[in-house]
Amino acid sequence: MKNTSVRSLRILPSLLLLAGLAGLPAQTTPVPNPQLASRELNARVESLLKKMTLDEKAGQLAQYSVDNATGPNDSKLNFDEMAARGEVGSMQGIVGAEATNRFQHIAVEKSRLHIPVLFARDVIHGHRTIFPVPLALAASWDPSVAETVARYGAKEARADGIAWVFSPMVDIARDPRWGRIVESAGEDPYLGSAMARAWVRGYQQDDLSRPDSVAVSVKHFAAYGAAIAGRDYNAVEMGEITLRQVYLEPYRAAVEAGAATLMSSFNSINGIPVTASPFLLTQILRKEWGFDGFVVSDWAAIPELRDHSIGADDETVVRKALEAGVEMDMVGNLYGTVIASQVRAGKIPESVVDEAVRRILRVKFALGLFERPYTEAGPAYDATPERRAAARKVAGETFVLLKNDPVEGVGALLPLAVKAKKVALIGPMADSQREVLGAWTVTGDPKYVVTLKSALAERLGDRLLYAPGCDFLSGADADILRQLYSGGTDAANNHAPAPDDAKSIAEAVETARKADLAILALGEPTNWMEGEAASRVHLGFTGAQERLLEAVAATGKPVILVVLSGRPLELKWAAAHVPAILEAWSPGIETGHAVADALFGDVNPSGKLPASFPRAVGQEPLYYAQLPTGRPAHGDLTHLPRNNDEKYMSRYVDEENSALYPFGWGLSYTRFSYSRPAVSRNEVPVREVLASGHKPVTTVGVDVKNTGSVAGTEVVQLYIRNTAASVEQPVRELKGFARVTLAPGEQKRVEFPLGFDELNFYNAEIMRTVEPTTYKIWVGGSSLATAETSLQVVE
Ligand code: BGC
Repeated sequence: MKNTSVRSLRILPSLLLLAGLAGLPAQTTPVPNPQLASRELNARVESLLKKMTLDEKAGQLAQYSVDNATGPNDSKLNFDEMAARGEVGSMQGIVGAEATNRFQHIAVEKSRLHIPVLFARDVIHGHRTIFPVPLALAASWDPSVAETVARYGAKEARADGIAWVFSPMVDIARDPRWGRIVESAGEDPYLGSAMARAWVRGYQQDDLSRPDSVAVSVKHFAAYGAAIAGRDYNAVEMGEITLRQVYLEPYRAAVEAGAATLMSSFNSINGIPVTASPFLLTQILRKEWGFDGFVVSDWAAIPELRDHSIGADDETVVRKALEAGVEMDMVGNLYGTVIASQVRAGKIPESVVDEAVRRILRVKFALGLFERPYTEAGPAYDATPERRAAARKVAGETFVLLKNDPVEGVGALLPLAVKAKKVALIGPMADSQREVLGAWTVTGDPKYVVTLKSALAERLGDRLLYAPGCDFLSGADADILRQLYSGGTDAANNHAPAPDDAKSIAEAVETARKADLAILALGEPTNWMEGEAASRVHLGFTGAQERLLEAVAATGKPVILVVLSGRPLELKWAAAHVPAILEAWSPGIETGHAVADALFGDVNPSGKLPASFPRAVGQEPLYYAQLPTGRPAHGDLTHLPRNNDEKYMSRYVDEENSALYPFGWGLSYTRFSYSRPAVSRNEVPVREVLASGHKPVTTVGVDVKNTGSVAGTEVVQLYIRNTAASVEQPVRELKGFARVTLAPGEQKRVEFPLGFDELNFYNAEIMRTVEPTTYKIWVGGSSLATAETSLQVVE
């Protein structure tokens, strides 16, 4: 399935065509974004710009916040007075019709030019209705679920006066030590681009002027997910080919889909902080991709340029950021104070400021804010049955069945037999509302969460036994978390306090002994352990959970493990000792119902991993699309090398190279078989590929059959390997996927188009091209797919 948006189809392959016919490396020419580049809109912008004073212009470039959500914000500024002077472009932290209207009235009615304020918010996986985390949504391999979540987010945000969301995050994340992997679509640029397009479509609907559309801010441009050692905010060192071919691809897809704004990232790349990088923000984003929207810095990233040591004073860093292409200063409180004086001193040309203001005003006009600056107050939010049904359905697509081995005398544990006798539900995740909601739920409320315990009780009544088993964290860490929670306003602080791990593990073991099987709900606490500023070097279950798992497994009772996590965890012990494992991520408000649906087989799991699960943290960054080496590892790597042939290869001496569960992995309650894939043409001249634009030059067809006894959905995946290019290419790359639902015994043909879009790569001159070569092609249900064919691209 090609997830090409309407707009990207309109990208003219004209230059590409010309270059292709001449046999040269091919590039695409950007087309203006119709949402932001109409003549009428530009005329309105120009007429307003002419009337603006320098201070009003600088004000439009400033975003302030009433809180310190994710960073420092010492400002003691009087925002009301500033808004009345027309000096507030955007606000964060004000939510709800009443609060936004109050502020908007000041901006629109008291200011000289009546320019509305753009209210912004982190709407990440829903606004008030909280859906599964973005990593989970990617595990559905169904871009339409991201679109659905974006639609709910957009409508609910708009009802709260918010017209601009800091979403989607499209950073490629290949290192689960980095806590923000939870906000991403995982490790792959093809899957990531498909999700990116869907998010943009869902939020903006190809029409920003609709009252229920919001402008996106695609973040964090760029390569923020490649922070060295997975430590948040850390530097990135990366060659330009990898940067473009892997990390920039989802941003490019989002820009092609019409993204109105982008957020520049905190990190530097090869020594240049992105927030001051003309190469990324001007050369690539504006000149190559033709981006018509505006760029906002990340939180206080402009003053932080001083800490990056690329400027000693405010004036220097402001100049660098603005001239590089950052139009809006998020809570750095510098653009508003420094720009006007710098222009007056002749240090910054006013034309640069004008261009920045233009871009921001364009988005405000396009959103219809001048016509409709206020929000009609609606009924108070409620998690209605309709919203719950949507959240449950979406969550049902995101679960990944990692393992479901038969148990002697019992068979496969999942799906749970309805007659299941007594079930012991154990673990700190089992009855937690807060920790399954997922990172970045700034407007979500855990009180709406249906826990696994309550959902299983609905089904099992008194056949359900329960024990928390242990806390999420142990010792001083547990105390810290408890203190943080008790300071909060959240009434749903119901995670079980279990100060004595040994005692509560013993109680859990007793509970398991009384039951016929045990379901363990384990994971990592969302708050402070996942998301921003939550990098980890240990990727196991937190606190005493692993001990709990081992103790319960030691009872000999069959164990089903439900993992509730925002990142790939290290599951090596569990994989070796527990027969059934379901990765359920952080599923949101319908956690309990959705997980129960999967456990009982009302929903057949169909998710596939969007990121590799390691055997050991030391393998990280671990991803399937590795570059080849001159000494590829082969053979049995489970032992210490026994001779030099086994030793001198690219391997570890104490662990296998491969993932424990690889990218694309996921089982079902049924089985699928694949025919040998076939290409419609197996030889294509290179000139034809170069000239093909978005059109396929061949298709790969495969028959997929449900050979089991229940209906199921398979994510059919196509991988290629370019075996002889001028620049080495990954050992496998995803280039197509399709979700196929099949009744028992049913078979369907799946066709994947291949053309320039799928076959190109960046050569040493940093041009996208295709050369004569052989592509190996595999189709199957994971990145380990074995059904194979090939395509020759000839002179
Ligand atoms: C994060 C962004 C977020 C912003 C506003 C920053 O710390 O990196 O992702 O949108 O805060 O809350």
